[in-house]
Amino acid sequence: MVQQTREQWGTRAGFLMAAIGSAVGLGNIWRFPYIAYDNGGGAFLVPYLIALLTAGIPLLILEYTLGHRYRSSAPLTYRRIWRPAEAIGWWQVAICFVIAIYYAVIVAWSLRFMGFSIGQQWGEDPDAFFFEDFLQASEGPGMVSGYVSAVAWPLIGVWVVVLVVLALGVRNGIEKANKIFIPILVVLFLALVVQALTLDGATTGLNALFTPDWSAMLDGGVWIAAYGQIFFSLSIGFAIMLTYASYLKRKTDLTGTAITAGLANSSFELLAGIGVFAALGFMATAADTAVDKVATSGIGLAFVAFPQIISTLPLGGALFGVLFFASLAIAGITSLISIVQVIVSAVQDRTGLGRVQTVSLVGGATALASILLFPTPEGLHFLDVFDHFINQYGIALAALVLIIVVGWGLRKLPMLERHADAISTVSLKLWWRIALGIITPILLGFMMWDSLRAELTENYEGYSTGFLLLAGWGVAIGAIVFGIIVSLFPWKKADQIAHTVDPDQEMKTAGIDPDKKEDR
Ligand code: ALA
Repeated sequence: MVQQTREQWGTRAGFLMAAIGSAVGLGNIWRFPYIAYDNGGGAFLVPYLIALLTAGIPLLILEYTLGHRYRSSAPLTYRRIWRPAEAIGWWQVAICFVIAIYYAVIVAWSLRFMGFSIGQQWGEDPDAFFFEDFLQASEGPGMVSGYVSAVAWPLIGVWVVVLVVLALGVRNGIEKANKIFIPILVVLFLALVVQALTLDGATTGLNALFTPDWSAMLDGGVWIAAYGQIFFSLSIGFAIMLTYASYLKRKTDLTGTAITAGLANSSFELLAGIGVFAALGFMATAADTAVDKVATSGIGLAFVAFPQIISTLPLGGALFGVLFFASLAIAGITSLISIVQVIVSAVQDRTGLGRVQTVSLVGGATALASILLFPTPEGLHFLDVFDHFINQYGIALAALVLIIVVGWGLRKLPMLERHADAISTVSLKLWWRIALGIITPILLGFMMWDSLRAELTENYEGYSTGFLLLAGWGVAIGAIVFGIIVSLFPWKKADQIAHTVDPDQEMKTAGIDPDKKEDR
């Protein structure tokens, strides 16, 4: 049965490293700095910290506890709680598929830009170089009009690394890769931040980032941005943390690990804000302009503004570029591994196939979709729309539905709290149930309503309605439909597990009293 043969992490530190590797990603390095800057600077830190404490860490604990208790992939875990809830799991699998196919491309660009940094190959105009020369991006979306091999090669490389790591398994692949990549990332990134802080004008950048605009706290949009950032950055709502926790040993400190992972992720994010804005301050000073003139958002910040900074540096530009793009690539690849693992784990549980076979089949299919669609002139537009819609109406909505079903409908939070408390160092008090059962769903519901309203008033980024129906709504709704359809098929093995495997009994066998709070 699934339970007896389930792989396990070698050590708790290995799991923690993998959890941090998943959380620290593209979202931390290029997303956080401009989101913070756009939403009140220093004042953004207040809603951000509140979001971390009221939704981020509580949801992280929920995912850890679900994965640890049922030791199954997302669809099987939810099915064991309530049969129809299996659909939420397959929905999350579909969300991970969509994210994986475009996330890999950004990692591939980072790898290429590592190389471009050495000779500063973008020349005088990094903007034209990135969009026109490198991506050969089309004016707008339409029929695929070509194939850009300069993007395809690094993308194939990224997928080879990801699939090899996954094929090696949880302990020999994912855990080892993170144990190698994360220390390298920390060293590279610290070197980058130190170099950035020594630049002329660094304090101007930091002042721009941290000077609080307190009026921003009265703006609902700022709170939405804070919660959105926490979700993406902590990798919650995609079932990644549930999947990773399903490979834990029975005796594991769940809450302590969740709090450590959450705080490590936010520390990295703040460090990224400091590094990026110190560099932007330098560039603004060199160009004798204000920081807001050089701080662009999104993809432009990493692939246009940074090349500009690198070219302006009097000394060590190549090193700065390599450090920045290598950090981006490493942070991205460890997150990508975790995203694809959600799909692999679900298909393994469903089919009973071995890891190598599953990785070859579903990992290979995911890689193929990514390699076929994105290295095209239209790829950038697909990426932009997929990213927006799957974040708004995928991750956040799935988290909301999960809380409503598990917390409100099935009233499972007290049982899960008891499970976490039996093994964890920090006991979950009423705050966890209040945060998860009341604060998070209300805020998520509000977020959903607000962004839906904006969506219906104005087409996202001015794209045509036809394209948004296909690549935006079509993909987001398609993921839900996929979840429902797959969950309708009979699954005998799952029913057998649901009837014969009792998590409390498993805990007892491991010498843990499921009703007792850990002595502390
Ligand atoms: N948590 C990952 C990131 O921040 C997905 O990019």
